[in-house]
Amino acid sequence: MNTVVLATSNHGKLAELRALLAPLGIEVRTQAEFGVPEAAETGLTFVENALIKARNAARHCGLPAIADDSGLEVDALHGAPGIYSSRYAGHEATDQDNCRKLLENLRDVAEPERHARFQCLMVLLESATDPTPIISQGTWEGRILLAPRGTGGFGYDPLFYVPTHDCASAELAPADKNRLSHRGQALRGLVAAIGWSVEGDWLA
Ligand code: IMP
Repeated sequence: MNTVVLATSNHGKLAELRALLAPLGIEVRTQAEFGVPEAAETGLTFVENALIKARNAARHCGLPAIADDSGLEVDALHGAPGIYSSRYAGHEATDQDNCRKLLENLRDVAEPERHARFQCLMVLLESATDPTPIISQGTWEGRILLAPRGTGGFGYDPLFYVPTHDCASAELAPADKNRLSHRGQALRGLVAAIGWSVEGDWLA
């Protein structure tokens, strides 16, 4: 069986990826199992940061590596918080701190003008020096609510209104969120691309 290392400590991402890659005969291991140190996310784009994380894991483990980078883009804030989503209110900021800052910065923006989207860039590098990574992008459109709703999810989920389901993403069942979300879309796109590559003897 072929093995890839996942450059994340998020157990939800690990479980999903394992389930999707098992039918292709690919085993997923975590970078924690190899004691990989965290990479500094110094890129200016989601895809750069995802590549930095995947390259770091591939280099340390000597294995193909998958990583993702994601965040929230708000039109009225010219795309902020973007790649800085997890540290919008500072390096030690909690999800609540970030949500509070977002609401504060949008206090003068009326509901119809609060368009936003989650972005997720997921990459697979065959090795640390792979010049042709597989790259997949997922985008989830919505609006920023005037006040938090729901208790599920994480990050900005209580503030992200999902028009197709008339609720906040924090009010969705986890399986529904995975089906709709930027991360679910990117993951399925990556797996489809890997499937093609496996058929073409890549990773064999
Ligand atoms: P990361 O890609 O896991 O580092 O996520 C970056 C940041 O974007 C998170 O800390 C959250 O603030 C935000 N974010 C990314 N995906 C989601 C999501 O599905 N729901 C809510 N917030 C998210």
